[in-house]
Amino acid sequence: MYKKAPTLSRRALMKAICATAAALHIAPQELFAAGRNKITRAIPATGETLAVMGLGTSRTFDIDIDELGQSQLYEVMQAFFDNGGQLIDSSPMYGNAETIIGELLGTAKNSGGLFSATKVWSYGKAAGIEQMQRSMDRMGVQVMDLMQIHNLRDWQVHIKTLRDWKEQGKIRYTGITTSHGRYHGELEKILKTVPLDFVQLSYNIDNRIAEERLLPIAEDKGIATLINRPFQRGSLFRLVKGKPLPDWTAEFDCASWGQYFLKFVASHPTVTCIIPATTKIKHLLDNMAAGFGRLPDAKMRQRMIRHLQSL
Ligand SMILES: NC(=O)c1ccc[n+]([C@@H]2O[C@H](COP(=O)([O-])OP(=O)(O)OC[C@H]3O[C@@H](n4cnc5c(N)ncnc54)[C@H](OP(=O)(O)O)[C@@H]3O)[C@@H](O)[C@H]2O)c1
Repeated sequence: MYKKAPTLSRRALMKAICATAAALHIAPQELFAAGRNKITRAIPATGETLAVMGLGTSRTFDIDIDELGQSQLYEVMQAFFDNGGQLIDSSPMYGNAETIIGELLGTAKNSGGLFSATKVWSYGKAAGIEQMQRSMDRMGVQVMDLMQIHNLRDWQVHIKTLRDWKEQGKIRYTGITTSHGRYHGELEKILKTVPLDFVQLSYNIDNRIAEERLLPIAEDKGIATLINRPFQRGSLFRLVKGKPLPDWTAEFDCASWGQYFLKFVASHPTVTCIIPATTKIKHLLDNMAAGFGRLPDAKMRQRMIRHLQSL
């Protein structure tokens, strides 16, 4: 059963939004400008478009149902959809996150834009099937848009089930994931030889290893990319703490360090969707704003790297 009333009142929510808008030097309504100037990307396998800004749920959504009322997650989910967000990424590895997503989806007003994504993270065919079915039940979806093999675990087994499920219409896309440089060699071989719709990997302004081989392979093979750890698990903010955002960032509609990091990732031509995670409405609005407006060009991207290194 869903429907726990959000505890943050409409007035408190509006206050938080106005404060965020003021901090970002934009009008509050611009934060709700879903569809206006929104950056989207096509999934190579089908041409279907996706908002470039998605939502991660590792750690941030791993709370007890009882704690939801005290959290800002109802507001985070609603503002995600209000700002044109689509892809929500989870995993059975993230504790209670899938159940929390299901609960939030039961209350959020969403005009059909959800693109659900989770993972299989187990050994053996039967355990994988059971886990994937449980994930769908927890998230409350009949069809999972994207099912990914988490960190390559038992991929030779799960890939066959994923293909069967896709054929049966239980999932729409297949994928595989890694993070912070793990298993890149093996992943490279898989991407070159095994047909997959999506690959998820870590990429950010301070960790650009994926630019060398994985992103070019994904482009060559027509595989969509999901980018995790865009803030290096939040540690990028420590590099810029107390430092002013340079004026020239206005040239690509950037109004915060969070947007600086996200727009850097989004401006890589092979990036399909980024999945920053947050527990806070203020940060969610900041992140969604990065999915609107202009992006840095190749020259500007180099300037952004140099600037960060000079701090
Ligand atoms: N192998 C895999 O498949 C794999 C591995 C890693 C991650 N992932 C996926 O990728 C998602 C993202 O990665 P991640 O969660 O590890 O790290 P991340 O998104 O790089 O960083 C999350 C951290 O950044 C903070 N944050 C978010 N927005 C902010 C903003 N605008 N300003 C300041 N701080 C901000 C959050 O804190 P607040 O709560 O305070 O905002 C949180 O601590 C995961 O949630 C998961 O869905 C998948």
